[in-house]
Amino acid sequence: MSDAVTLMKQEVGRAAANQVQSGSIVGLGTGSTTAFAIQFIGERLQSGELKDIRGIPTSFQAIVLARKYGIPLVGLDEVDHVDVAIDGADEVDPQKNLIKGGGAAHTQEKIVDSLAAKFIVVVDSGKLSDKLGTTFLLPVEVIPMGVAPVMRAIAKMGGQPDLRMGVKKAGPVVSDNGNLIVDVKFDGGIDHPAELEKTLNNIPGVVENGIFAGVADEVLIGEVIDSKASVRSM
Ligand code: A5P
Repeated sequence: MSDAVTLMKQEVGRAAANQVQSGSIVGLGTGSTTAFAIQFIGERLQSGELKDIRGIPTSFQAIVLARKYGIPLVGLDEVDHVDVAIDGADEVDPQKNLIKGGGAAHTQEKIVDSLAAKFIVVVDSGKLSDKLGTTFLLPVEVIPMGVAPVMRAIAKMGGQPDLRMGVKKAGPVVSDNGNLIVDVKFDGGIDHPAELEKTLNNIPGVVENGIFAGVADEVLIGEVIDSKASVRSM
């Protein structure tokens, strides 16, 4: 990652963390940008500027980071609402529809992010795209025994599915939920994200796909202009 990208992620993470108010239940997303938000929420807690925060993690990574930065965690069985969720994205279109799941965490992320009264997306400017599916493959989480028929069904719909393989691990990536991830290419991108989100989730064996249509409330974008980092809201 270049220094400029790291700086953008850091500043956008800080801007989102600054929106968190004392007494809130906060959805803690996954990925390198949200990691900065979790760090800054933790720092605000430790300094006493923030009080009484409870975090709902969206992944094993979020649990580890929340513990590292001293954010108390609760489960969805212990609370009846989520005030705000902060999470990254892999692709964002002008209508604030997202592709997520680059870190294979989109199923838990969608549960938490869609529950939040306010869902804040944190991205660097490289994630913006005119049409979903043109810069990032669509991740689909699948029950392991259903992978072959799901891939055939996706191919029938015109997608090109590819089972995600591990890095520094032989064999496929296994999600935090014990499932596999199929990354799908749609030639020409995704014409109707909200429709495709539902259609894919209707294939038996699919747990959840990475389209988040109409879920984001605010998209914070980190940019570097004249070697200075700034954050704007979409
Ligand atoms: C995790 O599965 C994803 O949805 C992440 O939120 C997404 O990949 C963003 O990650 P970065 O902030 O590291 O780009």
